[in-house]
Amino acid sequence: PFTVELHRSGRTIEVAAGETTLAAVRRELPDTPYSCEQGFCGTCQHRVLAGEVDHRDTLLTDQEREDSMLLCVSRAQDDHLVLDL
Ligand code: FES
Repeated sequence: PFTVELHRSGRTIEVAAGETTLAAVRRELPDTPYSCEQGFCGTCQHRVLAGEVDHRDTLLTDQEREDSMLLCVSRAQDDHLVLDL
């Protein structure tokens, strides 16, 4: 489990071990777009402001990985991420 701070919304959410970052974000922000939920379409890509991401997608370039993540498959490497959401 880890926490995600939604910087623009001013909220912090918990992501449980058995759920995706996307599912946790959508509890707070139900309009957050997604499609494939498997890390290949890019619909759920969002900017990461702080924290190390455990990237589990097959789409993003190394450069994109420096400051963004796919919410449907990727997680925090440590215990906290800050997203521009
Ligand atoms: Fe397609 Fe996340 S919903 S990459």
